[in-house]
Amino acid sequence: MTKLKEPLLMAFQNAPLNSDVYAQTEFKNLQKKHNLKVAIETGTCLGYTTAFLATFFDKVKTVEISIDYLHIAEKNRLNEYPNIETNLGSSSELLPNLLKDCGNDTFIFLDAHWGDYCPLKAELQHIAKSGIEPVIAIHDFLVPGHAELGYDSTHGQPFTFEWLKEEFDAIYGENNYHYYYNSKAEGAKRGIIYIEPKLK
Ligand SMILES: C[S@@+](CC[C@H](N)C(=O)[O-])C[C@H]1O[C@@H](n2cnc3c(N)ncnc32)[C@H](O)[C@@H]1O
Repeated sequence: MTKLKEPLLMAFQNAPLNSDVYAQTEFKNLQKKHNLKVAIETGTCLGYTTAFLATFFDKVKTVEISIDYLHIAEKNRLNEYPNIETNLGSSSELLPNLLKDCGNDTFIFLDAHWGDYCPLKAELQHIAKSGIEPVIAIHDFLVPGHAELGYDSTHGQPFTFEWLKEEFDAIYGENNYHYYYNSKAEGAKRGIIYIEPKLK
């Protein structure tokens, strides 16, 4: 099948997690450690990370707001995987539905932050409302002490733990979760925060 031409959208876009092998390894480690079965990704883009997730999760649900990017992702790679469900729309609207049949064995990768509207707080609030305690990874996070790792801001607010603490507390309960950051990265070298429920 002839592949659709892909626009250049991000640095190191042609491999999972913007070509960051350290992050790829950490995602796999978390899946094993918590015996996670389902992955949800917000921000499919061209689908490289989605396809990667499908190789070690039973089921992957992904949501993308751009019909053009989703079309390319589906045609060029995602349609090959029977365990991937693609969704067109805004994560802040579709997440409640995606979370409906999910349990604590869910991994959520929040990566839908492009453009003027940042859905991150709304995404975390939907997770809290769902009542599940998933493992969460958020891309493009400010990592204290690691200026070499890139991060995003929304309206001048960098993505920081303090900015989102209220939402994390609502999901797990205060003091019922661990969080940590990446310290090494390859490819686009972006910061990542990982949040996991304390093992009971
Ligand atoms: C950084 S890219 C995602 C990269 C992809 N996860 C990967 O690892 O290759 C961000 C994507 O989020 C999408 N996006 C932006 N706002 C969104 C929203 N509210 N809901 C869903 N997708 C959104 C953008 O169109 C873009 O494709």
